[in-house]
Amino acid sequence: MANDDYSIRPLTGDDLPEFSALLAKAFLSDDNVDSMVESERLVFEPERSLAVVAEGRFAGVGQILTRSVCVPGRGQTPVAAVTSVGVATDHRRRGVLTRLMRAQLHGLHESGAEPIAALWASEAAIYGRFGYGGATDFVSYEITAKTPFRPGVDLGVDRVRELPREEVLPVIRPLYDRYAATRVGMLGRGDGHWAYHLLDSEQRRAGASRLRFAVHPDGYAAYRVKSAWTERGPDGRVSVRELVANTPQAYAALVRHLLDVDLIGWVDYNAGVDDPLPLLLQTPRAAGCSRYDGMFVRLVDIDRALPTRSYASAVDVVLEVADEFCPWNAGRWRFTVDAGGAAEVTRSTDEPDVSTSTTDLAAAFLGGTRVATLAAAGRVREHTPGAVAALSAAFLGEREPVCLEVF
Ligand SMILES: CC(C)(COP(=O)(O)OP(=O)(O)OC[C@H]1O[C@@H](n2cnc3c(N)ncnc32)[C@H](O)[C@@H]1OP(=O)(O)O)[C@@H](O)C(=O)NCCC(=O)NCCS
Repeated sequence: MANDDYSIRPLTGDDLPEFSALLAKAFLSDDNVDSMVESERLVFEPERSLAVVAEGRFAGVGQILTRSVCVPGRGQTPVAAVTSVGVATDHRRRGVLTRLMRAQLHGLHESGAEPIAALWASEAAIYGRFGYGGATDFVSYEITAKTPFRPGVDLGVDRVRELPREEVLPVIRPLYDRYAATRVGMLGRGDGHWAYHLLDSEQRRAGASRLRFAVHPDGYAAYRVKSAWTERGPDGRVSVRELVANTPQAYAALVRHLLDVDLIGWVDYNAGVDDPLPLLLQTPRAAGCSRYDGMFVRLVDIDRALPTRSYASAVDVVLEVADEFCPWNAGRWRFTVDAGGAAEVTRSTDEPDVSTSTTDLAAAFLGGTRVATLAAAGRVREHTPGAVAALSAAFLGEREPVCLEVF
């Protein structure tokens, strides 16, 4: 079949079964179509979803969810959350994904919708060509249960209580919103996304318990447990789905609560790369740790996207920007940040101080990848001495960004 026989169209509510069936197969979950339909229904935005169609059948699909993300200094800002991307096995490497990506990004640009898009990648190699840069990493801890804290850790006076699922949402939602208002990278979460996030389907549980909720006045942890025994005794596992703490005491109390669940050998916990856990433990290496790529960001229109956040220091540089996939971003831009941290991006004909790409600006956007590190990797080139250092300092956030919610 020639490439030109593909057409592309938005979905309707009736397309949910075919959409879900394609995704289930694309993610090697052929037998889970029904549960996929049920989970996708919670967040489905058909009018923002696209199908590439060939001979009357879906060859590929992709969806945009209407969400928001916390950016430095400005709190929650709209983001087009790209998800549900899959191409049928017999249509791969024929440009179907490229069509979907083009339709999404050019559509966002032409309609003046969200200036920023974001996604989680099944494989990190896929999305750089479309201008997505790795913006938040995360670490995955496997901690020996009962590991002691170092002396002097302040657990506060408030008790951690376990609440049943039926009662928990009104209690934890405001705690989450408070956290996501200032913690860069955290997503805003509406009703459907809460339901999706806390799903307790067999597939999600993977042999572990339903979600349990440990709640503190200033935070909470949602977690599952799984029983296991060895000849040496109990060796169960606590798997933390989400831990939100708005004070250091809430953090310490919740972590202590999870580490001390009886009959447990291990606690699994995904966290931001600057999570304070090792600083609490008497033996930091009791928390074995691996690092992974997390959320990728795409600056749809750099002149609209960069000013949505504030910056740590004043700067005035001309950027030579490469962007093959969204050519309206390519060329020279003057990037100025005033003393208050507000940015402006305007067209320029001046000689560039720095050469970069939209992909690399996206990687730096939330403060997770330093511009100086990108320069050390040869991905940002400096023409005016000091320009990289100035940009790097301006883009840095107070803390590392964190996003642990896979959408
Ligand atoms: C990943 C996937 C969507 C790619 O779709 P596709 O239609 O085959 O992609 P395209 O033909 O448009 O490929 C565009 C480019 O990306 C490259 N590419 C595609 N998938 C890739 C992968 N998994 N790893 C590395 N490169 C990849 C192609 O080689 C092509 O490169 P080129 O432009 O240099 O020729 C498809 O393989 C799929 O559905 N995989 C399983 C589900 C999945 O992982 N979805 C993504 C969820 S985030």
